[in-house]
Amino acid sequence: MQFSALSAAFTIALVSATPQYGEGSISSWHPAGPNDFRGPCPMMNTLANHGFLPRDGRNLTKANVVKGLGDGLNFDPTLAGIMWDQAIIANPEPNATFFTLDNLNRHNVLEHDASMSRSDAFFGNNHVFNQTVFDTTTVYWTASTLDAKQLTNGKLFRQIDSRASNPNYTFTASTENFSVGEVAAPIIVFGDMDAGTVAKDLVVYFFENEKLPSELGWTKKADPVTLDNIMQVSSIIANATSLFTGTSSEHTVTKRKDLHAGLSF
Ligand code: HEM
Ligand SMILES: [Mg+2]
Repeated sequence: MQFSALSAAFTIALVSATPQYGEGSISSWHPAGPNDFRGPCPMMNTLANHGFLPRDGRNLTKANVVKGLGDGLNFDPTLAGIMWDQAIIANPEPNATFFTLDNLNRHNVLEHDASMSRSDAFFGNNHVFNQTVFDTTTVYWTASTLDAKQLTNGKLFRQIDSRASNPNYTFTASTENFSVGEVAAPIIVFGDMDAGTVAKDLVVYFFENEKLPSELGWTKKADPVTLDNIMQVSSIIANATSLFTGTSSEHTVTKRKDLHAGLSF
């Protein structure tokens, strides 16, 4: 009796320490079903499609997100934990212990105008991949290897287009921090972080399929991705957003609040 009570307690402890869903993998990708939540983040959707995150897009606890970003992308647990901490405000419930991919759709909480691949909330759906919008971004992705200039040209175009056409266009300094992180994100996951470049085919495949581009030869980084990596690539992107030429306008992202994911990366 005593043994089974102990063993039951041990099992409960183990269960609560482990994510409440099965193991993800590259090969077990499949798109969301009709009752699954998806959101405005192409990577969170991708990780759910692979089962690295809960496939139903629910119960994104800190443990689940740390495990999913670790298993899927080799993100360092400290970094993934910070990203979760910054994203938990997406759940409107006080003291929430999880968020859902649907929570990420809340406009001007984390989701913002002028996304690279989604429409502004003012025009309708702010979270489903929109090929027409994405095609206007990729006009600026002119070479097979993307660099900071091509990526930020696409970002700046989206802002100008939104500002010109959307009477509710909103883009604060905090939005800019998110946005810079989101533009840096593909370089971090799929590209060369020192050079600040990434193969266009990997990025386009990822956005259009919400699938990790393994069949194009991609593998996750051998070394864990750290906060320092994020800051370094975000700094390259932030500098490239300036419309001035020369070096006098350069600025550097150094603050932790510049992460995407709630202050994302
Ligand atoms: C805790 C983890 C994360 C959370 C909560 C999160 C959340 C979000 C949210 C709310 C957006 C929408 C912003 C908008 O309106 O465009 C977004 C966009 C984006 N996220 Fe994430 N994200 C996470 C991790 C990642 C990672 C690891 C990547 C790596 C590739 C990534 C890549 C992107 C990109 C590229 C966009 C921009 C999409 C676009 O402009 O169309 N995210 N993310
Ligand atoms: Mg958006």
